[in-house]
Amino acid sequence: MPKAAVIGAGTMGHGIAELFAIAGYEVALVDVAEEYLKRALQNVEWSLKKFAEKGQVKEDVQTILSRIKPVVNDVCRAVEGVEIMVEAVVEDIEVKKKVFSEADRCAPPNAILATNTSSLPITEISEAVKPERRHLVIGMHFFNPPPLMPLVEIIKGKYTSDETVKKVAEYAARLGKQTVVVNKDVPGFIVNRILARVNEAACWMAARGEATIQEVDSALIYKAGIPMGAFILMDFTGIDVVCFIGDAMLKRGFKSHPCPLIVEKCQQKKFGVKSGEGFYKYPAPGKFQWPEVPKSAGDRIDVSYLLAPAVNEAAYLLREDIATREDIDKAVKLGLNWPKGPLELADEIGIDAVVKTLEEWRQKTGYEEYEPDPLLREMVASGKLGKKTGEGFYTYVKAEEKKLETLIVRYEPGIAWIILNRPERLNAISPKMVEELWKVLDEIEQLDYDKVRVVIITGTGRAFSAGADVTAFMGATPITIFKTSRKLQILFERIESLDRPVICGLNGYTLGGGLELAMSCDFRIAAETAELGQPEINLGFIPGAGGTQRLPRLIGRDRAKELIFTGDRIPAREAERLGLVNKMVPADKLEQELRSFANKLAEKPPLALAMAKYAINFGLEAPQWIGMMLEAAQFGILFSTEDVIEGVSSFLQKKKPQFKGR
Ligand code: COA
Repeated sequence: MPKAAVIGAGTMGHGIAELFAIAGYEVALVDVAEEYLKRALQNVEWSLKKFAEKGQVKEDVQTILSRIKPVVNDVCRAVEGVEIMVEAVVEDIEVKKKVFSEADRCAPPNAILATNTSSLPITEISEAVKPERRHLVIGMHFFNPPPLMPLVEIIKGKYTSDETVKKVAEYAARLGKQTVVVNKDVPGFIVNRILARVNEAACWMAARGEATIQEVDSALIYKAGIPMGAFILMDFTGIDVVCFIGDAMLKRGFKSHPCPLIVEKCQQKKFGVKSGEGFYKYPAPGKFQWPEVPKSAGDRIDVSYLLAPAVNEAAYLLREDIATREDIDKAVKLGLNWPKGPLELADEIGIDAVVKTLEEWRQKTGYEEYEPDPLLREMVASGKLGKKTGEGFYTYVKAEEKKLETLIVRYEPGIAWIILNRPERLNAISPKMVEELWKVLDEIEQLDYDKVRVVIITGTGRAFSAGADVTAFMGATPITIFKTSRKLQILFERIESLDRPVICGLNGYTLGGGLELAMSCDFRIAAETAELGQPEINLGFIPGAGGTQRLPRLIGRDRAKELIFTGDRIPAREAERLGLVNKMVPADKLEQELRSFANKLAEKPPLALAMAKYAINFGLEAPQWIGMMLEAAQFGILFSTEDVIEGVSSFLQKKKPQFKGR
């Protein structure tokens, strides 16, 4: 039977020993006292039983457990005849060095000596062994709890050989883990460095009073898809651990400024779940319960503001050749359970936007860690801005843009942008624009979901659209006006029944026909500077492209009357309050917000989105029971699609679904 040794039977150590035992190794598990080993074995047994209940281990629990041999305080005896040792003792360099020098003395000459340290330098640890063995010393960083977390960071010290890296990757694979390689033993490696940046950003934002902790967590959870949010995760991990790792990284040269809210919690010994209170309160020490973090709390928070420092860190790791782009993203996805890696997110946000945000951070704090990494600046200078230009950290299908007489149409991966482009006329809707909109919508609807999943309509210049082009009204007959009105109504109905979501980005004036167009979209996101209204009354007529119908349905009959009777323009903030727009954002963030919302929708099953849109839009116009029948029918139809199989099976396999729209 192959042999391994695990030194230290704490949370990490006993979990690692369990993995070796499951993989068929005889494992010597060492700790300083019998009682620690006893407790460790009890924990392993409990965990193995859980695996057995789910059918996730092939042998019976006792057989596996019997392969773990407890050894009290004798590293030398434990490493006799082993292929590999993993050290997981306290994070104290002297204690670790002692373990390594003893292992060096007693282990077979070709045995690999790995450390599970999360904060100490591998090179220094390896200097505790004879020079001839230093190429066999390596970092093997598991995540808590080791039996469940799929990632191991493999860290090279100064002396570690490539052969050792290869072998450790093989060992990790036998333990059922995926690996990433960290080429230099920088403090925090990949995952903890990136996590530290998000924690700091979250904490500084709260400390400066720009947002509450719930708002920050809500934005991270609901907008970025990060499972726990920064503050809940710190509470869950233990704020003492966060402080400890942070201090250790700081001492080793990680540029950072400890955030007062975290330091305070450590001083007050409010460590999170374990002590019953951290950033949130828990029912009792050690008892976790999800804190209340409403989805709406994060509405106002720009999540890219929280993510930009993490992207900066990832750019540093890449530029310094510490890890490959794929490994950086993989480490964060597997180690922190993010839906996307920081470099993938950066490409979506736009590298220019990331740099701009970092400059804001730099200016606000004066801290050099927010200085945009030279790699990011270089990418901006060479036009590699991410998805929107077809190249960022990764390459994408290039965006295609075509200019019509009144519109710009831009195809980015997954998104079609229709940009109203008559800025000199405030994008007034002319007959030509109506004609071109029809054509473009036709074209989009015929495209495969691989190409376009979401449509965004926005405008150039100061206006989204200041309404129907009034010059076309001069000298018109009642019948031609009736026909014009119907034409616009039908065009907007076409948007309402388009088979994919349409988001309107209100970049400025959204008046008359402009607002009627916006109200036919599935969502409206407005720049802070936008102004909305139905001013037709001031010209002697009434809204003629759906305004008298859609506005009352959106904001209520009498509020709609107020807007239509007075013709007043209201600012975006008030429109948001009335529910006339879904959300308001700073003007310079509108494009990014539109893109990020569209990208989120683009990951959903396209046919289910279409069915939901139809059930809602048409169902709402019918008596409720007809709406119900419609809903049931649409629900049923979806069970003929591959996407349902993909969605349900991915859920059961705990992986991210890839919907195809089939
Ligand atoms: N149709 C045709 N042209 C329009 C227009 C419309 N709906 N809205 C604006 N324009 C033109 C203006 O006539 C002006 O053209 P000019 O430069 O040849 O004079 C140009 O766009 C810029 O508008 P202007 O009025 O100079 O800008 P402003 O900043 O002073 O005011 C508005 C902006 C939106 C308040 C104002 O243009 C306005 O009230 N527009 C009409 C809104 C309306 O009633 N819409 C409903 C029509 S059904």
